[in-house]
Amino acid sequence: MARARIAVVGAGLMGHGIAQVFALAGHTVTITDSGEAALESVAGRIRANLRDLGDDESAAERVRPCKSLAETVRDADFVVEAVLEDLAVKQNLFREIERHARADAILASNTSVIPITKIMGGLAGRGRALGTHWWNPPFLVPLVEVIGTQWTSAATIDRTIRLHAEIGKIPVHVKKDVPGFVGNRLQHALWREAIALVEQGICDAETVDTVIKNSFGRRLAVLGPLENADLVGTDLTLAIHRTVLPDIDARPGPSPFLEALVAAGKLGMKSGEGFRHWSADAQARLRSSVMQHLKKARASGP
Ligand SMILES: NC(=O)c1ccc[n+]([C@@H]2O[C@H](COP(=O)([O-])OP(=O)(O)OC[C@H]3O[C@@H](n4cnc5c(N)ncnc54)[C@H](O)[C@@H]3O)[C@@H](O)[C@H]2O)c1
Repeated sequence: MARARIAVVGAGLMGHGIAQVFALAGHTVTITDSGEAALESVAGRIRANLRDLGDDESAAERVRPCKSLAETVRDADFVVEAVLEDLAVKQNLFREIERHARADAILASNTSVIPITKIMGGLAGRGRALGTHWWNPPFLVPLVEVIGTQWTSAATIDRTIRLHAEIGKIPVHVKKDVPGFVGNRLQHALWREAIALVEQGICDAETVDTVIKNSFGRRLAVLGPLENADLVGTDLTLAIHRTVLPDIDARPGPSPFLEALVAAGKLGMKSGEGFRHWSADAQARLRSSVMQHLKKARASGP
C-alpha cells in the first residue's frame, strides 16, 4: 500500500511502537487510547525512541493522537488493535471499530496468544479480519506473525503480508489459528521445561538462564531448531527424542511451582522477586543489555 492510512487502537507499550514503525516508513497514523495519560504522552514517547535509535524524528509528525475511536478508524485502510490482553474487551472493541471503519479496511489484532477466531467471530465482515502479532519492542524485533481465521480472505492475508514487508518487518503466515500462534507456542514450550528443571531441583533458575544464553541461545538467531535438526541429522534427532522426550515435562496446565510463586506475591521484577531476586540495579542492567543487544542486531540487518 503506497502511503497507507493506519489506525492504531491502544497507545501502550506495543501500540506506540507499532505506530512509530508505520510512521517511519512514510505512512500516516492515527492513534487512540482510553487512558488520557497514554494518549497525551504517545507523541513524546515516539519522538524519544526515534531520537534514541538515530531515526528521523520528523516521522513523529505523521502520528496524530485522537480522542475518539470513530475519528481514529474512520478513514483508515488498516486498523491494528493493541489494547490489553482481555478477550471481552477486544470483542467489544472490534464490534465498535466495525461500526466506524470503512467496509474495505483490514482489521487486525496484536493479541499475543488469544485465537483470532474468538476475537473476530462476532463481526459481520470477518473476511477482512486477522491477527498481526508483533514482538516487543516493535521497532527492534523484526517478526510479525500474520494469522488468518477460517473466514479471512486470501486477499486480506496477501495485502497484510505485503504491507508489513514494505515497512521492513519480516511477516510470516500462520495457517491455523491456534492459541499462541507459532512464536509463543515455541517460547512457552521452552519456558515450561525451564520451570520444571527448577521445580525438580535439577538446577537453579540462574543456571537455566546461564545454560541457554551460553549454549544453543548463542546460535538461535542464525540457526533455527529445524535447520539444526537437519544439520545434525534427523536420525540423530530421533534417537535423542527417544531418550529425552519421555522425561520432559508434558503436563497440560501451568506448573504448581509457578502458581505458588504467584500466590506468594513473587511476581518477578515488579515485586523484586520471582524465580530470582531483582534489585533495582540488576533490573536496569538486564533491561539495558537486552536493548543494546537488539539495537546491535538491527544495525547488522536481518
Ligand atoms: N508487551 C508485549 O511484549 C507484547 C508483545 C506482543 C503482543 N502484545 C499484545 O499487545 C497488546 C497490548 O499489549 P501492551 O503490552 O502494549 O499493553 P499496555 O498495557 O502497555 O497497553 C495497552 C493500552 O491499551 C489501552 N486500552 C485498554 N482498553 C482500551 C480500549 N477499550 N480502547 C482503547 N485503549 C484501551 C490502555 O489504556 C493501555 O494504554 C496485548 O494484546 C498484548 O498481549 C504484547
